[in-house]
Amino acid sequence: MPERTLVLIKPDGVKRQLIGEIIRRLEQKNLRIIGIKMMKFDSALADDHYSEHVGKDFYPALKDFIISGPCIAMVLEGRECIITVRNIIGNTDPVNALPGSIRGDLALEVTQNLIHGSDSSATAEKEIPLFFSPQELFSTSSPD
Ligand code: RTP
Ligand code: MG
Repeated sequence: MPERTLVLIKPDGVKRQLIGEIIRRLEQKNLRIIGIKMMKFDSALADDHYSEHVGKDFYPALKDFIISGPCIAMVLEGRECIITVRNIIGNTDPVNALPGSIRGDLALEVTQNLIHGSDSSATAEKEIPLFFSPQELFSTSSPD
C-alpha cells in the first residue's frame, strides 16, 4: 500500500480562499486525495491532534487559532508522501520557508501558516483516524 499522510488546510487558508491553490500544488505533484472533508476542531480534538505540543508556551495561541474556523482535512496517498508533502509545505516559520513552498510563497506568520502535514509514519497513523473512518478513504491501490 502506498504511504498515507494527513493534511489540514488551517482556518487561515480557508478564510483566505486558498483551498484551490493549496490542493492544486499537492495534486500537480501527482499525490492522490483519497479522503477530504470540511470540519471544525473542538477543544478535545485540538488537544489530541497537537498532543505533543500541549503545555508548550505557544500552545494556547495554536489552539485558539486551530479552533477559530473551519479547516479542510485530507488524506493523501503516494510514494514517500509524508516527506514529499512536508517539502511542499516548507519550514514551520514561513519566514524561513523556501520560495516555491506553500508557506514560503503564501504565508508570513508562524501560527497562521496555512497547512499541516503529518511529520512521520507513526504520526500519520495516529492522526488519520482522528479525522477519517476507514469507510471514508478511497485508496488508489484498491478497486473502489
Ligand atoms: P504542523 O504540525 O501544524 O504541520 O506544523 P509543523 O509540523 O511545521 O510544526 P510543529 O512543530 O508541529 O508545530 C505545530 C504548530 O505550532 C506552531 N508553532 N509555534 N512560536 C513557536 O515557536 C511555534 N512553534 C510551533 C506553528 O503554527 C506550527 O505549525
Ligand atoms: Mg507538526
